[in-house]
Amino acid sequence: MSVAVVTGGASGIGSAVAATLREQGWQVVVADLDVDDDLGTVDDRRVRTDVTDPASVARLAALLAEAGLRVGAVVTCAGTADNGPVREVGPERFALTLDLNLVGTYAVCHAFVDDLVHERGSVVTIGSVSGSRGSQHRAAYSASKGGVEALTRQLAVELAPEGVRVNCVAPGSTLTPLVAKAQGDESVRAAILASIPLGRYAEPAEVAEVVAFLAGPRSSFVTGQVWGVDGGQLAYGGWRSGGPRG
Ligand SMILES: NC(=O)c1ccc[n+]([C@@H]2O[C@H](COP(=O)([O-])OP(=O)(O)OC[C@H]3O[C@@H](n4cnc5c(N)ncnc54)[C@H](O)[C@@H]3O)[C@@H](O)[C@H]2O)c1
Repeated sequence: MSVAVVTGGASGIGSAVAATLREQGWQVVVADLDVDDDLGTVDDRRVRTDVTDPASVARLAALLAEAGLRVGAVVTCAGTADNGPVREVGPERFALTLDLNLVGTYAVCHAFVDDLVHERGSVVTIGSVSGSRGSQHRAAYSASKGGVEALTRQLAVELAPEGVRVNCVAPGSTLTPLVAKAQGDESVRAAILASIPLGRYAEPAEVAEVVAFLAGPRSSFVTGQVWGVDGGQLAYGGWRSGGPRG
């Protein structure tokens, strides 16, 4: 049974990814700030990890190696969305988002590259529709997710000769605690809803289904891709007679 590490696996999209991968037969290790260490319980392996701290990521890799767990898939769901106007968000605050969403993604890929090569495994990063388009007050978030997409393509090309695939899933608005916090304002939520042709937010399990496909062998010839799971949000041009759903 292959081992998958899911960062941010204690909540939202990551939690759904962990559940879906388990259903599909993976041994999942959740690496999250918000869990206590437990590698002994096969169905519920977890390691408290801060992906912004290289020592913490190195500890995660060392603990898995000690436990004899070779990692065949890495899914990087740990992330944040700290939105604000450019006049208010200074470079230090901007950098915190980049540190978690982009550098944190890279750090985990870096830590497990030898395992992934050994297992001829795969990486699934988590982008966002914001990685490909502009919207209000999301400079840091958008830049971090655009960076994740570029990183995905780069790692895919670099690691393909060694048999490792790297893809990105770019969700649209998905019902998670992060979204409840970042889109708390009712008028923002209404505007976002109007921008989704399918007319609703995604469920985390809908995103997880695509992540699991890309993580596993059924997508064996797919690499370097960004897969949207966004209800048509990115395809939508912004107007339609009678509103987004006509
Ligand atoms: N929810 C959405 O609408 C949406 C849309 C597009 C992309 N995304 C992306 O999906 C990913 C998951 O988002 P979510 O909505 O499930 O959020 P969430 O807040 O529900 O979950 C994020 C998880 O990351 C963990 N985490 C935070 N900082 C960490 C750190 N330094 N080290 C390790 N773990 C850390 C948290 O403890 C939490 O368990 C993020 O990258 C987010 O940008 C979400």
